[in-house]
Amino acid sequence: VSSDLVIENIGALLTMHGDGLGLVQGAVVVIEGGVVTFAGPAAEAPPAPAGAAVLNAQGNAALPGLIDCHTHLVFAGSRAEEFRLRSKGASYAEIMQAGGGIVSTMSAVRRASLDDLVALGLPRVRASLERGVTTLEVKSGYGLALEHELKSLRAARRLGEESAVEVVATFLGAHAVPPEHERATYVDLVVEEMLPAVVTEGLAVACDIFVEGGAFTVDDGRRVLGRAKELGLQVRVHAEQLSRSGGAQLAAELGCLSAGHLEHASPEDIAALAKAGVVAEVLATAQVFLGMHQRIPGRQLVDAGVPVAVGTDFNPGSANSTNLHLAAGLAVTMCGLSVDEALLGITKNAARALGRDDIGTLVIGKRGDVCVLDTPLPWELVYDWSENHVATVVAAGEIVLQADANRHFR
Ligand code: NIG
Ligand code: FE
Repeated sequence: VSSDLVIENIGALLTMHGDGLGLVQGAVVVIEGGVVTFAGPAAEAPPAPAGAAVLNAQGNAALPGLIDCHTHLVFAGSRAEEFRLRSKGASYAEIMQAGGGIVSTMSAVRRASLDDLVALGLPRVRASLERGVTTLEVKSGYGLALEHELKSLRAARRLGEESAVEVVATFLGAHAVPPEHERATYVDLVVEEMLPAVVTEGLAVACDIFVEGGAFTVDDGRRVLGRAKELGLQVRVHAEQLSRSGGAQLAAELGCLSAGHLEHASPEDIAALAKAGVVAEVLATAQVFLGMHQRIPGRQLVDAGVPVAVGTDFNPGSANSTNLHLAAGLAVTMCGLSVDEALLGITKNAARALGRDDIGTLVIGKRGDVCVLDTPLPWELVYDWSENHVATVVAAGEIVLQADANRHFR
């Protein structure tokens, strides 16, 4: 397999270079050894490297391989019953306090083997890949005990090894307090046993915590993320999702890479995130899946100068969809992002949320991850909520997926 590839005849290329989308009409992308060596107007393209594969985009659009910067896709079991209860008036918080919610998924994950988790995860990863996703963040957080958190992270690692998608793993041991512990003793476990074990095995590059009434406090966050930083992990927060709980200010205080959700973030919280350079993850699917009235202040975040990423938050309880295109569409209609901002949110700014400089744009020196569409209009990706307009997915210069004329992948 060659990682030298020329993508020619691109009608509209979004390089994401500069302030906006970096649109180039009539473009060519050259990838050598898996790395972009040219991305620009066809007239300026260098001669194709000898022996390079050639992909003809047939006048259609292309953009960087998409990045889903926030998922919980290693899980077992179903929460369909809980969705039904919520449809009859029970709230997400009530279900969580009654021992349902995250803890019910925990039971299913504890029963599952590593192989089970991989088998359940692979079709989900594949669905993301078919949507053009070449990098996928995956959190643990449904094991809630050392052995089961490690198992979940090992499953995440295998999902990356056994698919064409790059998996970026985040340890979210502090997702919920498992029933066998008090909060304080569980936080001790996370800090003293789980974090060092995760780091020793190199199973995660980041640590996350759910700061929320019924989950963890700001002080827990200081302890868990403080220790994670000492151990060399990147840090992020689930902040202000169900109530204003202090997660955003904590993210600013600790210089977190990102803060997700933010439905209840105040103007002061937004200003603090902007000042600290924290990336906001707009997870509109969760807001809509939970039927929340509070809207994620996407517009206010952008206007305040916060870099805004868009993710799916894919998980069985609050966002049961791997569809990153839909997440981007909802970020537009529900959170006030422009279509351009939503496209930046699933590429360049998603890379920033992961602390990555090598992906998310198509500029010389970046990894050759490209998503080629079946339409000349890149906006179709955000606008079409039924058809998938991804035609070809390129990861590090290799064609890893190609749709047939019926938009089917084999
Ligand atoms: O990001 N908010 C906390 N965690 C998840 C939901 C997890 C679940 O309900 O299983 C989220 O929305
Ligand atoms: Fe989440």
